Amino acid sequence: MGRKFFVGGNWKCNGTTEEVNKIVSTLNAGEVPSQDVVEVVVSPPFVFLPLVKTSLRPDFHVAAQNCWVKKGGAFTGEVSAEMLVNLSIPWVIIGHSERRLILKESNEFVGDKVAYALAQGLKVIACIGETLEQREAGSTMAVVAEQTKAIAAKISNWTDVVLAYEPVWAIGTGKVATPAQAQEVHFELRKWLQENVSPEVAASTRIIYGGSVTAANCKELAVQPDVDGFLVGGASLKPEFIDIIKSAE
Ligand code: G3H
Repeated sequence: MGRKFFVGGNWKCNGTTEEVNKIVSTLNAGEVPSQDVVEVVVSPPFVFLPLVKTSLRPDFHVAAQNCWVKKGGAFTGEVSAEMLVNLSIPWVIIGHSERRLILKESNEFVGDKVAYALAQGLKVIACIGETLEQREAGSTMAVVAEQTKAIAAKISNWTDVVLAYEPVWAIGTGKVATPAQAQEVHFELRKWLQENVSPEVAASTRIIYGGSVTAANCKELAVQPDVDGFLVGGASLKPEFIDIIKSAE
């Protein structure tokens, strides 16, 4: 079975009610390929999830940007996976580099979060990626393999996981990975899954790229054989997100 192209829009910590309504209107008016060709998931901040869920076109879905590592309770400021399920939010982003680096989420913590979210019935966009320092030291594959291993150690079913390779040096910098750089890491990640999880999981798991994806650079990335879509930050707040979705064709 082929891997369906996946385009995620991570709005990060951006937006007012007015801005969110404007983005949703633009998305709702956009002409994009059918759901048979591309799966589109947008991820507003928690507080806007209900608004976006009710106003967004039905062929696009929503994701939270994070969730708590276990059942809710006395964890001030956190949002549990159960709450997302209760609100019928189907997806969650876990392990984004901004959380790993700024909030010090470890590989193990991210693995636990992925496992818990999946167990509650959420689908997960699990993020991995190396820093510039790690790339320059030649340890890109070792870093992303270690991050993937920490997830693989905690889960047995990859059906509801999308792996997002997001080199930290490309995020919000305007310095996109070249198609060859992205393809190389995606190929190696798929090989890692084949050797360490199973050939079936390697063949079916979508590995998407994130980091300064725009309407201008998405097409040449999208045609790489192991690039199964994108996780888009800045450009997902703009009308060009529609053009990025169209690169699925
Ligand atoms: O989750 C999205 C990534 O962090 C990419 O962000 O497209 O603004 O570089 P960016």
